[in-house]
Amino acid sequence: MNPIVAHGVIVSTLFLVACGAVLAVLLVLAERYILNFGPCTIDINGGEKKLQVNGGGSLLSLLASQDIFIPSACGGRGSCAYCKVTVDAGGGMITPVEDPYLSPEERKNNIRLSCQVKVRSDVAIRIPREYFSVKRYRGKLISKKQMTHDIFELRIELLEPTDIEFTAGQYAQLESEEYKGHEAVMRAYSISSVPSDRHYVEFMIRKVPNGICTTWVFEHLREGQEVRLSGPYGEFHLRPTEAPILFIAGGSGMAPIWSMLRDMKEKESGRKAMYFFGAQTQKDLFLVDELRQLEKEMPNFRFVPALSNEPSDTGWSGDTGLITDVVARHVPDASQHEAYLCGSPGMINACVNVLKQAGLPEAKVYYDKFA
Ligand SMILES: Cc1cc2nc3c(=O)[nH]c(=O)nc-3n(C[C@H](O)[C@H](O)[C@H](O)COP(=O)(O)OP(=O)(O)OC[C@H]3O[C@@H](n4cnc5c(N)ncnc54)[C@H](O)[C@@H]3O)c2cc1C
Ligand code: FES
Repeated sequence: MNPIVAHGVIVSTLFLVACGAVLAVLLVLAERYILNFGPCTIDINGGEKKLQVNGGGSLLSLLASQDIFIPSACGGRGSCAYCKVTVDAGGGMITPVEDPYLSPEERKNNIRLSCQVKVRSDVAIRIPREYFSVKRYRGKLISKKQMTHDIFELRIELLEPTDIEFTAGQYAQLESEEYKGHEAVMRAYSISSVPSDRHYVEFMIRKVPNGICTTWVFEHLREGQEVRLSGPYGEFHLRPTEAPILFIAGGSGMAPIWSMLRDMKEKESGRKAMYFFGAQTQKDLFLVDELRQLEKEMPNFRFVPALSNEPSDTGWSGDTGLITDVVARHVPDASQHEAYLCGSPGMINACVNVLKQAGLPEAKVYYDKFA
C-alpha cells in the first residue's frame, strides 16, 4: 500500500477510536449527572410501604430492585401489558408505548404500565397486596428432559428461599443469562409442577426460533447450573365452583393444565373435567400415558388428544381436525361449563369464539396466552 494512504488509514482509525472513547465517557457522565434524578420515594398503598430509590429507572425495575415484583411477561419491553399498576402521583404523561394498552376506564383510574413509567420524582402507587408475597429465587437445574422435538421440561431445586407457595396454574419468570451478544432477559413460564412439591418448580418450555430465552434454555442451560426466577404470578387458576371443566391446550400450554389436573387428583376433586389437547402430529404429543393413567384414577376426567395434520397411514385412531372443531363436536352445549385455555393467542382466540357459540359466557372462560 502507498505509505501516504497507509498513514491516512491509521490516522482515521485512531480518530474513530478516540471519538468512540469520548462518546462512551459522555454517555457515562450523562447517565450519572443528567439521567440521575436523585433520591425519590415510592409510596405504596397509601404509606403501607415507602421505598427510597435513586430516580431515573423504570418503576418496574426500581420496585424489583427493592424486592417488589410486578407481573411482567415481556421483560419490560412494553408489549405484554401484564405490569399494570395504579399511579396516583408522580408518573408523568402516558407514553406512546402505553397508549394502545390502556382503556378509557383504566386511564380514568390512573392505571399505567410500570415498565414505561420513569421515576423522576416521588411517586405514589397502588398494587394488590398479593404482589408483596412474590419472591426472587436462586435455584439449581437438576434435570432437563426432552418431551418432544421442541419441548423441554426443566426441574429446578429451590436453593434460596427453599420453598414456594403457589396456586396450580400460576407462572414464574425465569431469568436467562447473557450469551453470544444477547442480554439477560426475563420470560414468563407456567409452573407445571404441583403446589405440594414445594422445594422444586418445573417448567415446560417450547423452542421459539431465534427466541432469546428459549435458545438459552435449549443450547446453553446445563444440568447443575444455577438459575434465577421470581414468582408466583397470575390469575390463571381453577375457580372454586362445581361447574364441569373444559381444559383446552396446545404445545407447552400443557404446563399449567398438567399442574391443575394433578392438584385436583391430590385434593380428590370429583369435578367433571375434559381435557382437549391439540397437536399437529403424533410427534407433538407428550404425557399421553400419564394422562391416560389419570383418567383411571379420576373417574370424572376424560383426555381427548386431537391431531390436525397426522398422515392417514400412521394408524392414529384418536380424534383428528382442528382443536376448535374437535371441541365443538364433543361439547355442542357448553353453557354450564367453565373453560381453562392455555397456548398461543391464535388458538385461544379461536377457541373462545367456539365456546361462545356453544353457549358459554365469556366471563367463564379463563386463559393464559403465551404471547
Ligand atoms: C403468562 C405466560 C406464561 C407462559 N408460559 C409459557 C410456558 O409454560 N412455556 C412456554 O414455552 N412459553 C410460555 N410463555 C411464553 C414465554 O414467556 C416466551 O414468550 C417464549 O418462551 C419466547 O421467549 P424468547 O425469549 O425465547 O423469545 P423472544 O426473544 O421474546 O422472541 C423472539 C421472536 O419470537 C416471537 N415470539 C415470542 N414468543 C413466541 C411464541 N410463543 N411463539 C411464536 N413466536 C414467538 C417474538 O415476537 C419475536 O419475534 C408464557 C407466556 C406468558 C405471557
Ligand atoms: S412488562 Fe410487559 S408491558 Fe410492561
